[in-house]
Amino acid sequence: MSAETQRPDVRICDDLSELSRRVAESAVVLINDAVRRSGRCTVALSGGHTPRPVHALLASELRDQIPWSSVHLFWGDERYVPADDPASNYGMARATLLDHVPCPEANMHPMPTFFPEPDVAACDYQRTLREHFAGAWPRFDLLLLGVGEDGHTASLFPGSSALNERTRWVVPTVAPFEPTNRLTLTLPALAGAEAIYVLASGRVKRPVLERVLTDDPTSRHYPVARLAEAARALTWWVDAEAAPQATTGDTGTFRRD
Ligand code: 6PG
Repeated sequence: MSAETQRPDVRICDDLSELSRRVAESAVVLINDAVRRSGRCTVALSGGHTPRPVHALLASELRDQIPWSSVHLFWGDERYVPADDPASNYGMARATLLDHVPCPEANMHPMPTFFPEPDVAACDYQRTLREHFAGAWPRFDLLLLGVGEDGHTASLFPGSSALNERTRWVVPTVAPFEPTNRLTLTLPALAGAEAIYVLASGRVKRPVLERVLTDDPTSRHYPVARLAEAARALTWWVDAEAAPQATTGDTGTFRRD
């Protein structure tokens, strides 16, 4: 992120508990605004561990503040495993959120993982997205993402040819760790979201954030940095363990709200 570009929007929270609460509360406001504005809200969920406490709040204390019948749920990526596999992002969302809220099944749009070929599944999901997004690219009202220690986001990994995809919305990729076969939205399909929330918790995420948020040239190959560069609106939700140390200069000083 070069100096002349807008300063990154970084929200620093004490810990994962505060991060989760603030993300969930912000999501409630955003979802209600979208439904008031357009009659529906499209939310793309992330995999990994970080979103789980956010899901738990949306499925409990905040559950009745969301017009679930107007919310359509999608996924930014998926491991190419059966839905009942412990590694499934859809399976994690079912257990932590979907099974506890009155969101109609017809509003849930998981990535298919039952085709013999992941590429066929990617094309199938692109068709699903085209049914919900009329334009040239999908425009999720809210896109939740995490970030890996290697700077990956969704299932876009450093060095992947998928990072150069400019036509397809969904592609198969291969992760450098199990489960290796994945489906992921491509950078342009992610970047068009009205609001992107990248969640990062824990000391292990600090090195990536230090580089990305201070525009360190070595971060340019990180998929999450490429996304931040292209995104319409991206907010970093980080806890104190993951937050860059206070920095000053043309990229600004990161501070608590
Ligand atoms: C996945 C996610 C992936 C995740 C990061 C961070 O399918 O695993 O989409 O991009 O968000 O790996 O994961 P944690 O939240 O577990 O640190």
